[in-house]
Amino acid sequence: MKRLLFIANWKSYKTQKEAREWLAELSIKNQELDDKEVILCPPFTVLATCAESIQEKSLSLTLGAQDISPFDEGKYTGEISAKQIREFATYVIIGHSERRSIFAEDEILIQKKLDQAYHYGLIPILCISGIDQVINQKETIRSQEIIVAFEPLFAIGSGTPDSSQNANHMAEQIKNQLPQATVLYGGSITSENVAQFIEMPAINGVLVGSSSLDPIEFSEIIAHA
Ligand code: PGA
Repeated sequence: MKRLLFIANWKSYKTQKEAREWLAELSIKNQELDDKEVILCPPFTVLATCAESIQEKSLSLTLGAQDISPFDEGKYTGEISAKQIREFATYVIIGHSERRSIFAEDEILIQKKLDQAYHYGLIPILCISGIDQVINQKETIRSQEIIVAFEPLFAIGSGTPDSSQNANHMAEQIKNQLPQATVLYGGSITSENVAQFIEMPAINGVLVGSSSLDPIEFSEIIAHA
């Protein structure tokens, strides 16, 4: 059985109270997860709250951050460094398309973020929309642990996912470049369509935005895979 990853990306949603409610309503049974790993990427402000609730409820959830500073600790007002993130999280999303397009993140910045993540022992979840974005970072990643999420721009938040065949083809191309990569598909995943992506041979899981905000829908995505 292949290991499957399910990542919830909450983006800029959820207050302390809403995060606690989500964790209370999530209905995953640890013993039914088998080879499934569930990673929650909340905003920085609720990482500590989520860590507490996960521990209290003994949930099989691992935490990830949604971004990371390109710099080590220092005089960088507003930035959160890898050294700070690793107190809460195991994973970190780097290069999400919203960061690339809205915040003008380029390959040089993304490379610095990858370097920081590796330096502090965080596992990067590199989001890409084309194979060139993998090739550009190949030298930095080398044979280190990496999760790559293929998220075609048209599919993000649109309600129109890519075809599972196309996503699988892209996953194969990514693995040709980085054989050690765990490759995910992201973009309009729901409990209705998750199975068709998960059953593709080169796809190791999904990165879920909108549908992860509802704990019941997210639980169903995990159950339906
Ligand atoms: P979506 O977002 O599931 O809402 O399409 C995916 C993402 O942005 O990671």
